[in-house]
Amino acid sequence: MIIKLFFLLFFINSCLGSFNLMCSFDFVDDLCTCRFLIYNPDGSNDYTIGGNPITNCSFNDTIQVISSGKSFNIPSVICDRFPMLEILQMEGLEISTLDPNPFLNCRMLKTLNLGYNNISEIIPYTFMNTKLESLDFHSNSLEKLDPNAFFNLGQLKVLVLQNNPGIILPEKIFDPLLGLVSLNLRDCNLLDKNAGWFGKLKNLTDLNLSVNSFTTIPNYAFRNLTNLVNLDMSVGKITSIASNSFTYNVNLKTLRINNNNLTALGANIFDSLGNLEILSLSMNNFTAVTSNIFKPLVSLRKLSCSGCNIRDIKTEWFETSRNLDSVDLSCNQISHIPVNTFTSINQLKFLYINSNSISNLNSRSFGNLNSLYTLDARDNIIYEIDHYFMNQSTVMKHASFSGNDCAELNTDNFMEDKTNVMQQMTGCFDNFDKIKIELETYNSTLFDWHNIRPNDDWQALRVRIQAAENAHIGLTDSLDRGDPLVEIHIGERDNRDSSIYERGERVLLDNEHRRLNENEMRTFIIGWKFGIVMVYEEAERFPFMAHFIREPFPVNFFGLRTKINTYNSQKKATWNVSRIQGNEMLSLLQFYKQLMNK
Ligand SMILES: *[C@@H]1O[C@H](CO)[C@@H](O)[C@H](O)[C@H]1NC(C)=O
Ligand SMILES: *[C@@H]1O[C@H](CO)[C@@H](O)[C@H](O)[C@H]1NC(C)=O
Ligand SMILES: *[C@@H]1O[C@H](CO)[C@@H](O)[C@H](O)[C@H]1NC(C)=O
Ligand SMILES: *[C@@H]1O[C@H](CO)[C@@H](O)[C@H](O)[C@H]1NC(C)=O
Ligand SMILES: *[C@@H]1O[C@H](CO)[C@@H](O)[C@H](O)[C@H]1NC(C)=O
Ligand SMILES: *[C@@H]1O[C@H](CO)[C@@H](O)[C@H](O)[C@H]1NC(C)=O
Ligand SMILES: *[C@@H]1O[C@H](CO)[C@@H](O)[C@H](O)[C@H]1NC(C)=O
Ligand SMILES: *[C@@H]1O[C@H](CO)[C@@H](O)[C@H](O)[C@H]1NC(C)=O
Ligand SMILES: *[C@@H]1O[C@H](CO)[C@@H](O)[C@H](O)[C@H]1NC(C)=O
Ligand SMILES: *[C@@H]1O[C@H](CO)[C@@H](O)[C@H](O)[C@H]1NC(C)=O
Ligand SMILES: *[C@@H]1O[C@H](CO)[C@@H](O)[C@H](O)[C@H]1NC(C)=O
Repeated sequence: MIIKLFFLLFFINSCLGSFNLMCSFDFVDDLCTCRFLIYNPDGSNDYTIGGNPITNCSFNDTIQVISSGKSFNIPSVICDRFPMLEILQMEGLEISTLDPNPFLNCRMLKTLNLGYNNISEIIPYTFMNTKLESLDFHSNSLEKLDPNAFFNLGQLKVLVLQNNPGIILPEKIFDPLLGLVSLNLRDCNLLDKNAGWFGKLKNLTDLNLSVNSFTTIPNYAFRNLTNLVNLDMSVGKITSIASNSFTYNVNLKTLRINNNNLTALGANIFDSLGNLEILSLSMNNFTAVTSNIFKPLVSLRKLSCSGCNIRDIKTEWFETSRNLDSVDLSCNQISHIPVNTFTSINQLKFLYINSNSISNLNSRSFGNLNSLYTLDARDNIIYEIDHYFMNQSTVMKHASFSGNDCAELNTDNFMEDKTNVMQQMTGCFDNFDKIKIELETYNSTLFDWHNIRPNDDWQALRVRIQAAENAHIGLTDSLDRGDPLVEIHIGERDNRDSSIYERGERVLLDNEHRRLNENEMRTFIIGWKFGIVMVYEEAERFPFMAHFIREPFPVNFFGLRTKINTYNSQKKATWNVSRIQGNEMLSLLQFYKQLMNK
């Protein structure tokens, strides 16, 4: 139908000598608009334009012109006939040339959309009479641009050159664009060329360089872009980025370098990016990611490094990025999530660790993930999960465990279905923390935390310690606290005192005996049944400390440490801790009875 119409118009036009375009006037988005159809495959410029004006919308009122059809060129009648024209849209007309310059009389033109045409050349000074703020050459066939193609466009804000795969950009091509805010060079097959391109674009906030072919960027490429907010270099062939490439881009909020060919990132590469919120590094083949690389990213909300070839997560990675709400580490080779890795980020909502080789999930590495909404742990080799880690959820919706050793389930309704889901995961919880607790602690302020399983009916520990002095046993409900709720000190002050602290306050002191010995294992029983914390030396068979917990809490974890001391040169303590169960509990109960009768 349209094709027939074209021929009809063409026929009529040929008969009249000069061709006539017919405006259909209307208000589009409150703008007086002329729409016309053109059929001009031969590129005639000999046009007139007519139409029936409507109220308040005639030639002199026209702000917007939208053309459809087919034309080799842009007839200059358009700019001649519409003195107030601000917006010109000629998308997808197969336009091949801007010669002769059709815009000389478009003195009010602000927006020009020439996307999806076949324009290969921008004649120098083409736009010099316009007031262009937005210029779109999306999907044309631009080739080598003349250095003066954008002459006099100091007021241009948006330039779209996306998908011009043969484009060649002279070094100073963008220099006139002092007011440019957004530059889209996506899919332009850009190669490693001079990168002085952006030196004058001090107002640029958005730069899209994705889907290109350059392999590296000189460290000065972005130096003058101090207002840059969004930088996209995803899907390319970049093999290296110099450490000081982003030094001056202090306002950057989004940085995408995913799907490139990077193997390393300089240790200081993100040092200036304290405002960065989104960082995408996925699909690069990193050989190593250093431990403090993310440290400067204090505003980071979303980090993705899926398919990054990561083997080792560093404990320090997320220490300072406390606002992270989404972390994607899927499709790596992670086998272990170190203690405290995620403990600084309590607002985490989305965590993707699927398709790795992770064998266990526990609160020691995750802390309190109270805000977690989505946990994707599919396709790992998980065989043990800390019960508390799952039970603490208050908002979890999606939890996916299919393709693991101890659980196969996926749910999109975790909170509604919690009891049932937890039931199905009993196998994982029962496997948790069955390892023997035999360890050495050195001069340390950090607790070594262990899990108390709800299915174990024990509320007591047999703690064997060999140390010169000052061993601490902590009991607490969750691991995101600074200090445990109850802390038992044995042999502090150079092995003179023992004491119990509740919520930081000393509630009990015993200084009758020196309890520890650096040459021999001493055995203590520590219980907390009936809300009473009590400690006795196995050899003595009676508690030397007992304390009624003032503000009871569920004891989910116990921790061990040897405190840094000032009195002694203690190097290490050796611990051998076991859980008291079954019959052993009975003798303990006797003590409790005696204590409670007192
Ligand atoms: C035409 O413009 C005048 C003055 O701006 C205004 O008062 C009138 O309502 C408009 N008429 C229509 C049909 O928009
Ligand atoms: C349109 O504007 C031109 C130049 O401003 C003027 O000469 C002409 O009279 C106007 N036409 C009408 C119909 O108002
Ligand atoms: C686009 O222009 C080139 C010459 O620059 C020509 O060879 C090609 O056929 C044109 N393509 C279309 C779809 O018009
Ligand atoms: C750059 O942006 C600032 C602040 O928006 C503005 O005042 C200034 O005029 C802009 N510079 C140019 C060349 O447009
Ligand atoms: C950055 O701007 C300064 C002047 O402000 C200029 O001397 C320098 O050449 C520019 N850098 C680049 C890479 O163009
Ligand atoms: C870059 O372009 C792609 C595709 O047009 C788009 O998805 C992406 O959001 C753009 N990036 C920026 C920072 O504008
Ligand atoms: C990645 O870089 C290596 C050399 O460092 C090269 O051999 C390989 O072809 C590149 N891969 C891609 C997809 O560009
Ligand atoms: C990643 O790099 C390692 C060597 O560091 C290489 O063995 C491996 O094949 C690479 N993987 C991909 C997907 O390029
Ligand atoms: C799970 O958490 C709830 C509170 O959310 C608590 O009442 C319950 O005792 C916990 N279950 C176990 C087995 O720890
Ligand atoms: C314990 O560690 C602290 C901090 O690392 C150190 O200053 C102190 O000398 C150490 N003390 C001993 C006895 O090794
Ligand atoms: C730890 O204690 C258990 C008995 O409670 C004992 O069998 C084991 O040998 C001890 N391990 C060490 C290293 O002392």
